[in-house]
Amino acid sequence: MPLIVSNWKMNGLGADGVALASAVAAKVKADPAKSREVAVCPPFTLLERVGAAIAGSGVGLGGQDCAPKASGAFTGDVSAPMLKDAGCFWVILGHSERRAGHKETDAQVRAKLEAAEAAGLATIACVGETLAEREAGKALEVVAGQLQGSLPDKRPGRWVVAYEPVWAIGTGKTATADDIKAMHAHIRSCLGRRHGGLAGLSVLYGGSVKGDNAREILGVPGVDGALVGGASLKAEEFWAICTARS
Ligand code: PGA
Repeated sequence: MPLIVSNWKMNGLGADGVALASAVAAKVKADPAKSREVAVCPPFTLLERVGAAIAGSGVGLGGQDCAPKASGAFTGDVSAPMLKDAGCFWVILGHSERRAGHKETDAQVRAKLEAAEAAGLATIACVGETLAEREAGKALEVVAGQLQGSLPDKRPGRWVVAYEPVWAIGTGKTATADDIKAMHAHIRSCLGRRHGGLAGLSVLYGGSVKGDNAREILGVPGVDGALVGGASLKAEEFWAICTARS
């Protein structure tokens, strides 16, 4: 069953956000097949309102980041127990926009993943190479290094890794089916070796997933779902992605 996660990023004010979440929730609720798992990750300010809008629909709620500490003097930060308290099931961590824009290191991402798991959140850990790294033939090596540095040693019960080539995010470019297949197999092999198994793992693809390419991407062997940014801001297009493989 594919897992389709929307990442609204820094988009959404109250009325529009609630309308978007309500529309997605209504589609999920009305869908007799129930052959997909759907999550929405709005900005922190909308968590409670989106949570209320999706209540009872089966859509999961997620945050887009959390602090590595549970509480304390960290102005502006939001902790994993706070996300849990706000109704989150999921949290996205290590997104390339945070790695690049906020200089998050693998060690910081790992501390956040540990904090989220300790708080009982299901984590979505993002990895992916830049265009320069891919062109230098280093994509597999870079992603292996991010997995090694960012993921905690202990394997959680529910476990999601999102492969998001940085050059494909928000650009309209997507990796080829062969490259996605090879990277997802590589991710599984790295994780299987280190964690002694892959139980509970889903590997998502992210980066310019849209209504018109979702079927092909979600059909690539080893792709268990998608992490969707821009195209998740329109209910119809997001739902087209959700239903692309079924
Ligand atoms: P995009 O973003 O779908 O807009 O490319 C994906 C992501 O950053 O998770």
